[in-house]
Amino acid sequence: MSPSPALPGHPHIAQRDGALHVEALPLAALAREHGTPLFVYSKQWMLDALAAYQRGFEGRDALICYAMKANSSLGVLRVFAEAGCGFDIVSGGELARVLAAGADPAKVIFSGVGKTRAEMRQALAAGIACFNVESEAELEVLNAVALEEAGRRARISIRINPNVDPKTHPYISTGLKGNKFGVAHDRALATYRHAASLPGLEVVGIDCHIGSQITEASPYLDALERVLDLVVLIEEAGIPLHHLDFGGGLGIDYNHDTPPAADALWKQLLARLDARGFGQRKLVVEPGRSLVGNAGVCVTEVLYTKPGEDKNFCIVDAAMNDLPRPAMYQAFHRIVPLAARDAAGATTYDVVGPVCESGDWIGRDRELNVAQGDLLAVLSAGAYCMSMASNYNTRGRAAEVLVAGNRATLIRRRESVEDQLRNELT
Ligand code: LLP
Repeated sequence: MSPSPALPGHPHIAQRDGALHVEALPLAALAREHGTPLFVYSKQWMLDALAAYQRGFEGRDALICYAMKANSSLGVLRVFAEAGCGFDIVSGGELARVLAAGADPAKVIFSGVGKTRAEMRQALAAGIACFNVESEAELEVLNAVALEEAGRRARISIRINPNVDPKTHPYISTGLKGNKFGVAHDRALATYRHAASLPGLEVVGIDCHIGSQITEASPYLDALERVLDLVVLIEEAGIPLHHLDFGGGLGIDYNHDTPPAADALWKQLLARLDARGFGQRKLVVEPGRSLVGNAGVCVTEVLYTKPGEDKNFCIVDAAMNDLPRPAMYQAFHRIVPLAARDAAGATTYDVVGPVCESGDWIGRDRELNVAQGDLLAVLSAGAYCMSMASNYNTRGRAAEVLVAGNRATLIRRRESVEDQLRNELT
């Protein structure tokens, strides 16, 4: 066998004998069997990513709640449920999904600015660990639902907006004053006092989440200091906080990004927590992308190449409905041919999908040596791709395969037109 250079950030995705593999399996064979576009995930990458958090928290009282919005496919949720993870959910649908995957409801926390009464009832009935409440109005409603409808107290944290800049894309920064998330730092103590006075609520923690695809430790350190300042104030007011939740947000390597490893980041954060006397407090984190992002690729077929006046286009069968991040955030995903080819014959292409929008692009100005019928892998497609996929242009959502060593499991069938028409009444 020839040496197997793993792709940067993707230790389990490598070129071997001229063919791109996920763990022990060649992607081309999976694409032949299941068709394209096809998402393929490495189970080992997910477990390694989780292990980095577990190492970081060794000897501490910590709960890792996978933020399932990153990838909520049942087969992926099962990997984390079997590994003993908790989950961060943001809807009743996510709660139903994660319970179907075998999660322990006592390890589920519920985030989000717009929880409905029905979702509150559902979560109270399931016995989740904690609601991360995001506004004073939500406190009132949750109190009423708990008292009047569910007959039990709701355990809560209040999500604080620490007003720190996570230095990421504006659409995925959440902890700045101008964002819709959380309760303003200045209002935190008053909100906690009010929460503690409501008979349907039991205050158990404090929460913050400052943004996503964060590639430096400093915004976390700033947020941590600001949250701890509040913890001191709130506890001085006689309201004990059982756990501290620092949200998710750690980035991955899309394009020479160099985020700290989870264990290295937490080494720094725990040193600050220790220094301020909070190191033995129960900790909660809500990582999403960093647990699944580089576990996945999307395999797509080149339908046509088309020379243009200004640009050359490589038209593939995956589109913005499968891979919405470039269109939504101008995000960069590496694109790699499945079969290694001579770079000498490369042309500069915009890689685009079949959807009828100019925003339907997957990569711009990419040097590729490709021909009609070739297969390409779009990398870093494990997070916020399938979970944000849509049926735009009546395109069925892709199939998904989970690879463990030399075993591949189809975890989601390709969506058919019949699936799409099922709920429509004429
Ligand atoms: N906790 C809360 C309250 C969140 O809002 C999020 C993500 C997470 C945890 C997980 O963050 P992560 O560890 O995955 O960064 N669709 C965008 C990302 C949106 C993130 C929304 N909230 C993207 O594709 O970049």
